Amino acid sequence: MHKSKAVIARNRGERVEEVEILVPEPGPNEVLIKIKACGVCHTDLHYREGAINNEFPFLLGHEAAGYVEEIGEGVTNVTVGDFVIIAWRSPCGRCRSCLKGKPWYCFDSRNAVQNMSLEDGSTLSPALGIGAFSELTLVDAGQAIKVDAAVNPNTASLLGCGVMAGLGAAINTGSIAMGDSVAVFGCGGVGNAAIVGSKLAGAQKIIAVDIDDRKLEWATEFGATHTVNSRSTDPVDFIRSVTDGNGTNVTIEAVGNPKTYEQAFYARDHAGVLVLVGVPDPTMRIELPLIEVFGRGGSLKSSWYGDCLPSRDFPKFIDLHLDGRINLDKFVTETISISEVETAFEKMEAGEVLRSVVVFE
Ligand SMILES: NC(=O)c1ccc[n+]([C@@H]2O[C@H](COP(=O)([O-])OP(=O)(O)OC[C@H]3O[C@@H](n4cnc5c(N)ncnc54)[C@H](O)[C@@H]3O)[C@@H](O)[C@H]2O)c1
Ligand SMILES: [Zn+2]
Ligand SMILES: [Zn+2]
Repeated sequence: MHKSKAVIARNRGERVEEVEILVPEPGPNEVLIKIKACGVCHTDLHYREGAINNEFPFLLGHEAAGYVEEIGEGVTNVTVGDFVIIAWRSPCGRCRSCLKGKPWYCFDSRNAVQNMSLEDGSTLSPALGIGAFSELTLVDAGQAIKVDAAVNPNTASLLGCGVMAGLGAAINTGSIAMGDSVAVFGCGGVGNAAIVGSKLAGAQKIIAVDIDDRKLEWATEFGATHTVNSRSTDPVDFIRSVTDGNGTNVTIEAVGNPKTYEQAFYARDHAGVLVLVGVPDPTMRIELPLIEVFGRGGSLKSSWYGDCLPSRDFPKFIDLHLDGRINLDKFVTETISISEVETAFEKMEAGEVLRSVVVFE
């Protein structure tokens, strides 16, 4: 058993706490990881607010990279000392989706079997089956994805969730093609990664929508060709005005809000694709005229983790980054210590950061 300094959410809506937790030795097919960096994602805040489920206490943090510290029996994909990004999807290979050849939808993704716990013995629920605001964490071997160790760990960590979700929403779910037009609603870490993915896929027009001018400036740096602040300008009118009145081929909703979903629905050209990557609160509802859903054609898709296959996509995007084809370093706004997670949530809500990354010695 190992002791590890970690950040937990004990009760709904309460400030997070820094505590000492207990992390077991890896059992069969489990891997113990020494975390180097872990990004602060909006989903951690959703957990703290009880918007994901009620299984408190949560061990927060799920966007992480680090080194393999110990491996359990039967682990063959990584070895001690490997640099890995942790994935929250580890396809089982046996469920009905894996058997259909679509492991990125795996319905029975694997996590460590053993529990991490508080010193009083109470079981922790690791965020997205990871829990990486912690010096050490225990995951299923399939969640540990070896990538080129030449990458900066702070940058690499972000591919573990938000950046992958955005890149994948554009490339895997949206299937953006050369010359397409794209509108991205919400330009946080996820939305800006969708902009990077759109550019990489060859999109011609990339229209960024946000309510915060600072985010829109960043969006331009990431490759947006047009920006619109939807607080002052109707984004649907704007998007149509720069696409010959048609709307874009693909719209990506990266907020998780019925209003922006509706805007993304109407900003789409006929037969276009709407990708929902933002995570809504369970109480949220949408109402759309069914005739419009029919008449506009195309498809309304959800993107779970950018529909990624981590073992295929993580090494690929790290290599593209190292080759200079995409620049993922710009997603790291600041590095912080493990005691600053709550402040990072405040900065995230105030729109001051794209990503704060907790770094470990
Ligand atoms: N589908 C997935 O697998 C997946 C993975 C990671 C994160 N997410 C979700 O993606 C969403 C975005 O995550 P993030 O980390 O980028 O969050 P973030 O807080 O960094 O970014 C959200 C952005 O949306 C903007 N925004 C808020 N309200 C808006 C509105 N009405 N119109 C336009 N813009 C608006 C904010 O100004 C901000 O720039 C969250 O819901 C998160 O939970 C989904
Ligand atoms: Zn996340
Ligand atoms: Zn499966």
